[in-house]
Amino acid sequence: MPRVLTGITPSGTLHIGNYFGAMRPAIELQAAGDAFYFIADYHSMTSLTDAAERLAYTQGIALDWLACGLDPTKAVFWRQSDVPEVCELTWLLGSLTPMGLLERAHSYKDKTAKGVSPNFGLFAYPVLMAADILLYDTHIVPVGKDQKQHLEMTRDIAIKFNQTYGETLIVPEERIAESVALIPGLDGQKMSKSYGNTIEIFGEEKVLRKKIMGIVMDSRTPAEPKPDAEQNLAIQLLKLFAPAEVATDYENRLRAGGLGYGDLKKALFEHYWNFFSPYRVRRAELAAQPEYVAQVLQDGATRARAVASQVMVRARRACGLR
Ligand code: ADP
Ligand code: TRP
Repeated sequence: MPRVLTGITPSGTLHIGNYFGAMRPAIELQAAGDAFYFIADYHSMTSLTDAAERLAYTQGIALDWLACGLDPTKAVFWRQSDVPEVCELTWLLGSLTPMGLLERAHSYKDKTAKGVSPNFGLFAYPVLMAADILLYDTHIVPVGKDQKQHLEMTRDIAIKFNQTYGETLIVPEERIAESVALIPGLDGQKMSKSYGNTIEIFGEEKVLRKKIMGIVMDSRTPAEPKPDAEQNLAIQLLKLFAPAEVATDYENRLRAGGLGYGDLKKALFEHYWNFFSPYRVRRAELAAQPEYVAQVLQDGATRARAVASQVMVRARRACGLR
């Protein structure tokens, strides 16, 4: 059975881009594969330095995943820092990773271009991510499109390791769901917590309604036909939440003229809110059982570590370490 692995960084509250780009595909795969999903708390250290905040986001993301359908009897679910071997593998891989490869990383270049003062962790981020994947003999990595280059780097690093030290590591494949590869944010750019344009999966009704009703549209009157209706941001988002025929009906009405943007946004909010309501109920139940959630993560770490320690024995031996 192929091993499927993915991680989400606890550096903020999860948004619908994370849900459609990463969580839902991963949750769908948990029945078909040998699923390994983790909370990438080491990765959050390059951007977040508040310890209490890190713990709170980690806790929150654990609730989010479990509420959205991650089933701990099917998937191994753990916190990255509970398996510290990943840092050891990062060193073995980092020692084979050319500086040039890391210098070409989009995420690093984007962040430095935006004025983020880079630290070693940010530069080495793709190596830690490669270690996350290679430590668990992963075959398939479901991620959003923005992670494509990181996956290519992981493959390059695994191939280099195998060429240098002999066949040791499994070279993984990415799995990008094209139809939902890039969810746009409130401003039409890629939805990302770093751009402040997110619609959260969970949150206060009033706040979220305000966000959605605040989406800026053009100044055409409701009566005017809109031949570009399929490019309308609210239509694109509605397609994620409403049944296909409902979304198409709104799109047709917008194209023909007669549907006001306010009514369209109201419909978007209702569909969005109803889409997540069963998960909201489940999340509240889980939040009331912190011991259960802690136990799930602990059991997951034990299972993950059993795999990691075997891979590390192989990797150390291959390099002539202990
Ligand atoms: P952010 O950009 O908000 O910091 P992350 O980089 O933590 O999000 O992404 C976590 C996961 O969610 C990754 O697999 C990523 O590809 C996916 N993802 C993030 N934003 C989007 C988006 N707008 N559309 C699709 N997938 C996304
Ligand atoms: N870098 C990923 C992101 O920002 C999160 C992540 C860390 C990850 N390690 C991973 C995703 C390993 C897949 C596999 O979204």
